[in-house]
Amino acid sequence: MTVVFRKTKMATAPIPDLKDLIDQAKELFKETFGEEPQVGGSAPGRVNLIGEHTDYNMGFVLPMALPLVTVVLGKKSGNGVSRMRSEKDDDIAEFNVKQLTPGSPSWANYVKGVVANFHAPDLIPNFNAVVVGSVPLGGGVSSSASVEVAMYTFLEELTGSTAGSDEEKALACQAAEHQYAGMPCGIMDQFISVMGEEGSAVLIDCKTMETRKVELKDPSIAVLITNSNVKHQLTGSEYPSRRAACLNAAKVLGIESLRETNLPAVESKRSEFDDVTFRRIRHVVTEISRTVEAADALDKANYQLFGKLMVDSHNSLRDDFEVSCPELDQLVEAALKVDGVYGSRMTGGGFGGCTVTLLKQECVKSAIEEILKSYTGTPTFYVCKPSPGALPVKL
Ligand code: GLA
Repeated sequence: MTVVFRKTKMATAPIPDLKDLIDQAKELFKETFGEEPQVGGSAPGRVNLIGEHTDYNMGFVLPMALPLVTVVLGKKSGNGVSRMRSEKDDDIAEFNVKQLTPGSPSWANYVKGVVANFHAPDLIPNFNAVVVGSVPLGGGVSSSASVEVAMYTFLEELTGSTAGSDEEKALACQAAEHQYAGMPCGIMDQFISVMGEEGSAVLIDCKTMETRKVELKDPSIAVLITNSNVKHQLTGSEYPSRRAACLNAAKVLGIESLRETNLPAVESKRSEFDDVTFRRIRHVVTEISRTVEAADALDKANYQLFGKLMVDSHNSLRDDFEVSCPELDQLVEAALKVDGVYGSRMTGGGFGGCTVTLLKQECVKSAIEEILKSYTGTPTFYVCKPSPGALPVKL
C-alpha cells in the first residue's frame, strides 16, 4: 500500500485511489457547471531514481511513474468560451481555444499550452473542465507534467483524435511548458507521465527516445520519497543557466551534446574550461554512465550497487552540478544512517523538492523515524510502487 506519514502524526494515510479522484472531479464539475462531465484523462507524477540533469544533454534517465495523479474531466461548452476550474484555486480560467495567451491564473498556462500544442488543434471545441489531483504542487515530482499530460489525454478523448505516438504526445506537452510556463525543461517528466509502466521503472534514452523497462517488483524492496517541503527560488534562474552551460560546453567540444563524450576525453581538454564549467560537464558525463550502470544493476537485483550509484549521483549533483541544498543533503545523510538503506539522493531539478531512497521494505519505519529525528524541517513521506502512465477516464 502507498502511505503518507507526516511529522505531526506518525499515522499512515492512503493516497487517494484514482476512482476517488475521479468522483471528486465529477462533483467539482457538477458544482461548477451544473451538469455531468463526459470525457476525461488522468496522468501521473514521477520520481527519478537516477539520471539527473541528463535529459537535456541527450543522456539516459531512469524514472518511474507514481500513484500520485492529476485528473481532468470535462465536456464541450457549446459556445465560444472555455472555462476551467482547479480544485486548488477559486479563480476560474476563461479563454477561447482559438486565441490563447499565457496569463492568470498561472496554473491555467499549462493547460493553455497543451491546447496550443495539441496535434489536431482544429478539432478542439471550446469546453468546460476541472482539474483535481494528488501530486504535491512544486514538490519536485512533476506536478506540472502530470497536469499537461492529463490535459492532453482529456483533449484526445474530447476530439476523438489520439497522438500518433507517446513521443509526439510528450514532446507537445514539453513544448507547452517551454512556451506557456517559460521553463526550458527536458523530456523526462512528460515522457514518463505518458508511458509509465506498472511494476517497472523505465530507462529512457533521451537521444533516441528508446525505452527499456526495468522491473521493480521485489516485495522486499521499497522506494521512499521524502518531500523536504522547501522550494528555493533558485530553480527559476539556475535551471536555465545549467542547461545553457551544458550546451555551451558541448559547442566548445565541437559536439552536439554532452552525450557524445566521456570522462577521459573531457579530462584531456580540461585546460579549455574554467573549474566550474569542468565540474558541470563532469557531472553530466559521469551521471549518464552511472544511469546505464544502475539500470543494469537493478535488472540483476543488485541493490547494493544501485544504492552506491544513487549516492554517487547525489554527491555529484551537490558538489559538481551544485543543484542540491542543505535540506536535501540533510535528508540524504539521515537516510544513509539507517540499516537496510541501499542508497538515497535528491531527485528532480534540485534546490528543494524531494529525495528518493531505495531500502528494504522492513526498514521503512526506522528510516522515517531517523529522518524525522534528524531533519530540521517538516518532511512528508510517500512509499510508492511504479505505476501506470496516462489513461483515458471512462465515465
Ligand atoms: C526537471 C526537468 C526535467 C529534468 C530534471 C533534472 O524535473 O523538468 O526535464 O531536467 O529537472 O533531471
